[in-house]
Amino acid sequence: MAVTSAKIEDAAKALRDGQLVAFPTETVYGLGADATNEMAVAKIFAAKSRPQFNPLITHVANRHVAEEYAEISPAAERLMDAFWPGPLTLVMQRSESCPIVDLVSAGLDTIALRMPAHPVAQALIHLAGRPVAAPSANPSGHVSATTADHVREGLGSHVDHILDDGPCTKGIESTIVKIEKEHVHLLRPGWITREEIAEHCESLNSVEATQSKIEAPGQLESHYAPSSALRLNATSVEPHEALLAFGEHGALETKHSLNLSPSGDLIEAAAHLFSYLRELDKTGCETIAVMPIPSHGLGEAINDRLSRAATPKMQSQS
Ligand code: TXA
Ligand code: MG
Repeated sequence: MAVTSAKIEDAAKALRDGQLVAFPTETVYGLGADATNEMAVAKIFAAKSRPQFNPLITHVANRHVAEEYAEISPAAERLMDAFWPGPLTLVMQRSESCPIVDLVSAGLDTIALRMPAHPVAQALIHLAGRPVAAPSANPSGHVSATTADHVREGLGSHVDHILDDGPCTKGIESTIVKIEKEHVHLLRPGWITREEIAEHCESLNSVEATQSKIEAPGQLESHYAPSSALRLNATSVEPHEALLAFGEHGALETKHSLNLSPSGDLIEAAAHLFSYLRELDKTGCETIAVMPIPSHGLGEAINDRLSRAATPKMQSQS
């Protein structure tokens, strides 16, 4: 399971050669390509069957390169100081000399940058010597991959290399904020909570899904969707349902049940969310009943993913 430096070097070379490499980050596995190579980036969209209007996050090795690619405002600097490397993605104005291909931004004049904290991701980006465009390594509209097996199951032969470093520790995607000078807009709740971001901002607004369809298409309503239907805030469970529990669930019993966190810990729940949804989905149950999850802190991101997974699929997304 452990990734050797020789494997990372091979994968870095594959990236430079225009191939796709799936790699672990602290949030979820990414499907990476050289962000300066249009053909390589196009392969990502093909592998995921991802609509081309949906832009990608570019992963960078350090802050210095981020400054080459984007206009960094004081608010962006404060957030980078506080949360990089880590699960925060900043959407900023592209710089004049930004070498990242337009396809990554899907034609927008902004760019989404993230410096991951995972040592394998960091080594890969560093050795590749390129910015790495990487969405979550799952077919478009499906649950994100938090293990290398999930990547193989979902993308199979579309991926040239998979760096398998075991399950992702955080298990839920990065928080995405858009920065316009001193204004910070929360585009996607994620591992870093709204409260944590707000501590470093003069003004923090949420961009509602309905207003940001073109800007952040990954915010479309149906997303991260398993095949089974989801019934949220369930306080009872029917015989034909599987149960995704949270905290104490004494009275609720069914054939297939998994508990996101028996002790009611949101961090543990986030780490299990996607793999447990997959496992329950595989039981072939018609519906997964999901117990209520508190909405504070990390609960905002967990509930956001659950409500998207519960919305019937209309068209594919990220
Ligand atoms: O944790 C994560 O963020 C993972 C790991 C691999 O880094 N990546 C991830 O990527 O979740 P993806 O492609 O599944 O989600 C990226 C989201 C999409 O909703 C996309 O619309 C949004 O970022 N996005 C990317 N560039 C953007 C831009 N310039 N403006 C607004 N939204 C953008
Ligand atoms: Mg995704």
